[in-house]
Amino acid sequence: MRDLKGLILSGGKGTRLRPITHTSAKQLVPVANKPVLFYGIEAMAESGIAEIGIIVAPETGNEIREAVGDGARFGVSITYIDQAEPLGLAHAVLTAEPFLGDSPFVMYLGDNLLQGGISDLVEAFRTSSPDALILLTPVPDPQNYGVAELRDGAVQRLVEKPAKPATDLALVGVYMFTPPIHAATRAIKPSERGELEITDAIQYLVDQGKRVEPHIVRGWWKDTGRLDDMLEANRLVLDTITERIEGELIDSHTEGRVVIEAGARLERSTVRGPAIIGAGADLVDCYIGPYSAVGDRCRIQNAEIENSILLADSSVVGLERRMQGSLLGKNVMIGRDDGQPRAYRFMIGDNSEVWIP
Ligand code: DAU
Repeated sequence: MRDLKGLILSGGKGTRLRPITHTSAKQLVPVANKPVLFYGIEAMAESGIAEIGIIVAPETGNEIREAVGDGARFGVSITYIDQAEPLGLAHAVLTAEPFLGDSPFVMYLGDNLLQGGISDLVEAFRTSSPDALILLTPVPDPQNYGVAELRDGAVQRLVEKPAKPATDLALVGVYMFTPPIHAATRAIKPSERGELEITDAIQYLVDQGKRVEPHIVRGWWKDTGRLDDMLEANRLVLDTITERIEGELIDSHTEGRVVIEAGARLERSTVRGPAIIGAGADLVDCYIGPYSAVGDRCRIQNAEIENSILLADSSVVGLERRMQGSLLGKNVMIGRDDGQPRAYRFMIGDNSEVWIP
């Protein structure tokens, strides 16, 4: 098999993670303080892929270019591919055709996280050389995904987000393709939601008698498109960290697996792992509980935080109750005003959510 290329889809709209995605790409929201997208790039690099194309949208392309760069830091070479409109995953493949040429390739959805990387799967793809390889995993809510029906271990039918799923086997956002996929993406028509679906393109391969090999994923897999999935991905990754304390602890202590990055400063605070505190963060009189990821340069005072993700440069000051299950964007301020009248005061962007007990 020729050398595999990589294609990462980092365009799209990210409607389900608003308001964070009003100003930022959903693929750059951090999981355990690292952008989701980086996990995909690292998984590809680790599996021996040297050339990666990244599909980007006009709104968020520059931010992604800036965050990822030319790929040197990951040991790969990265080409950015502009997709003018999010017309579907198969449309992204069409757009990437000049980059892909007649190479086989791995396609990775930029908001997906797969435990244990993709090296074994790439190896299986190289060894058994099918026309396409897809990954499947049982999920409790198959109606939110592409769903597969198998017969005697072979792919029979694939349907995108069916109202009445025939099985609970969801298509995972990592696919391996060979050149026949290009004829398929050209042959299919837009779905009801107006997108060229990769699910339909793979069904086309099946209908043409091509060999589509299904693999069941053994470890965990997460599509981080929604808040609860994001928090769960954060928990799953934090569960794998090893302790590393590089910041400064003053009358403070940590319990369990905790990472305190260099330049962070903790005063009269406790961090109970698994948790990560970003570089330059400043914590005073705080309790940071399990499954929290506090971004770089965050400032937290007199507050308790648990099972939450705070992006860089946010502040949380003087909370009476514990904050949990929360996602704060960049440079967010949550504070206490002791003046009169004792009233709530908000300045919140579109599509935000605030919950008060
Ligand atoms: O996560 C797995 C699921 O991903 C599969 O089970 C489905 O079969 C598949 O269609 C896809 O469903 P989603 O509706 O979750 O896809 P989403 O719109 O979130 O797009 C996935 C990624 O691809 C995301 O990082 C944005 C990017 N994208 C999306 C579109 C529609 C593009 O780069 N261009 C696009 O045109």
